[in-house]
Amino acid sequence: MLGKVIRLVVFFNLGLRYLFWKIILEINGGAIGKKVKIFEGVKMALKRGCPIMIGDHVSLQKGVVLSTSEKGKIRIGNDVYIGEYSVITSNAEIEIGDHVLISPHNDIVDFNHIYQDRSIPINRQGITAEKITIQEDAWIGSGCKILRGVTVGKGAVVGAGSVVTKDVPSYHVVIGDPAKTIKERGKKVGKSDGDS
Ligand SMILES: CC(C)(COP(=O)(O)OP(=O)(O)OC[C@H]1O[C@@H](n2cnc3c(N)ncnc32)[C@H](O)[C@@H]1OP(=O)(O)O)[C@@H](O)C(=O)NCCC(=O)NCCS
Repeated sequence: MLGKVIRLVVFFNLGLRYLFWKIILEINGGAIGKKVKIFEGVKMALKRGCPIMIGDHVSLQKGVVLSTSEKGKIRIGNDVYIGEYSVITSNAEIEIGDHVLISPHNDIVDFNHIYQDRSIPINRQGITAEKITIQEDAWIGSGCKILRGVTVGKGAVVGAGSVVTKDVPSYHVVIGDPAKTIKERGKKVGKSDGDS
């Protein structure tokens, strides 16, 4: 009986959060698909003209933050999982393809502050922003940083704690700071070409 009540409360809260964010996103030109799970503590900070678009069957775990400003835009495909306390901040565009898996505690940020001029505080020098793309079926391990202008290719794997500063080719497995390829998914060691 108690289990049933708890399940009902959880279901009710998920439904309320879904409705709340659907209204907020749509008012601001964004969209949200079907069967999207939004857990407690999720925040979406956006302004008009900087939409957040979320596909079907997306899961935004506890504490996820999606934020757009300047000319930012966030597009999330279908069947995407975004792990606890991941923060996605866009001033250009961040596109996340279908079936992407983002583990907890990731930072995905598509802009830098301009810092060249010593006579002006950095926070008054403006920003440079460039689109980030995470293509379908990629897996970003826990605690990574994905920086401005990067494309993580289809089916790529980014090891836990990596800092991604350059494009990751499709199906490559990268690790480290800065992230470098250690192997390719589905390729047998010793084989010179083609997937296994
Ligand atoms: C990248 C990863 C997928 C590779 O797994 P794997 O294919 O089993 O590779 P291995 O464990 O054999 O590691 C290969 C080498 O890379 C090193 N390595 C693996 N992951 C690493 C990482 N994240 N950072 C630094 N080095 C790493 C290993 O120590 C090993 O080094 P060695 O050859 O000198 O011994 C895995 O290590 C990883 O980071 N997983 C993410 C876990 C995670 O975030 N889980 C959350 C789930 S939601």
